[in-house]
Amino acid sequence: MSNRTDTTRLQDMARAYTTSAVLYTALDVGLFTHISNGHNTEAALTQETGLRPVDVDRLVSCALSLDLLDWDGDQLCNAADVETYLVEGKSRYAGPWMMFTRPDVSGWFQMTEKMRHPDSTTLGMYDELTVESARKYHQATASIGFGAARRFVRTVDLSDRRHLLDLGGGSGAYSITAVETFEGLKATVLDLPPVVIATEEYIADAGVGDRVTTVGADFTQGEFPSPVDVVVMASNLPIYNSEVIGAVVARAFRALESGGEMHLIGEMLDDDRKGPVDAAMWGMNELVCGSEGRAHTRGECEEYFRSAGFVDVEVTDFVSGTLARCFGRKP
Ligand SMILES: C[S@@+](CC[C@H](N)C(=O)[O-])C[C@H]1O[C@@H](n2cnc3c(N)ncnc32)[C@H](O)[C@@H]1O
Repeated sequence: MSNRTDTTRLQDMARAYTTSAVLYTALDVGLFTHISNGHNTEAALTQETGLRPVDVDRLVSCALSLDLLDWDGDQLCNAADVETYLVEGKSRYAGPWMMFTRPDVSGWFQMTEKMRHPDSTTLGMYDELTVESARKYHQATASIGFGAARRFVRTVDLSDRRHLLDLGGGSGAYSITAVETFEGLKATVLDLPPVVIATEEYIADAGVGDRVTTVGADFTQGEFPSPVDVVVMASNLPIYNSEVIGAVVARAFRALESGGEMHLIGEMLDDDRKGPVDAAMWGMNELVCGSEGRAHTRGECEEYFRSAGFVDVEVTDFVSGTLARCFGRKP
């Protein structure tokens, strides 16, 4: 095998922002939705989007080369994941989540400046949340959160549990899905005060207001509603540093009944920190958003659980390459 190296990988990395930009524009102009609706030639796309033929040609070339599109004879078609998640109007449309971090793009390109002149708080972007911004935020998280919640209830059997506490529950995806799946279960979504207004709307839409309640609070402070026999904390791990996460896990332990269980689901680094890239990047996102959070390793998460007193602690893949799940049981 040759040891020769070249610059290809580094050049790709230097221009990786081009991929995000193409995806955003494809979503802006409804490229995948038009194709799914049968406008699957460049002439038809030019007509539907109102763009110049040359720009449709450019966009289609990029989308084909990124495997977002393919050919079906002489017609364009969406890749399988694009057809499922990026076609507006479909039940699993995740466009809001794909666009969710777009406003942060300029912040990512000020990273050096932000490191040289740091300005951070414990809550970061959550300091400034309003009910309106929370609604918009959770339109994005719900577009993937309910899918993750369905995966959770397929993975974890809560049929003997009675009360779930959902820390930073957002849209209530995990709580709503869990009570819909497990008959005897009730749930409490604890999230910041502006957020739980939006949470209530998801609960009402799902018709589970008699079994899911909310508490508006900051989980970095104060004791948690108790007693509960399951605690879930999903998709907020890198927002906080080790001290905060360790303290949250310890307070969750105190809120649990003996025999209860906790699940911490989030982007976790492997112990050698060589990946997944996404976990590292969510840690860096906290620089951009102005919090003190960072990416945590699987081993660190296990340690937060063991230090709190949990037993049978283990981390398993939740969504391979993206999310891991740390489990612990209170003796
Ligand atoms: C990415 S969302 C995840 C929502 C939900 N767990 C899910 O997986 O769909 C992160 C959530 O954590 C909440 N959160 C972050 N910091 C919090 C804090 N200090 N106290 C309460 N909730 C917090 C946010 O408001 C937001 O709803």
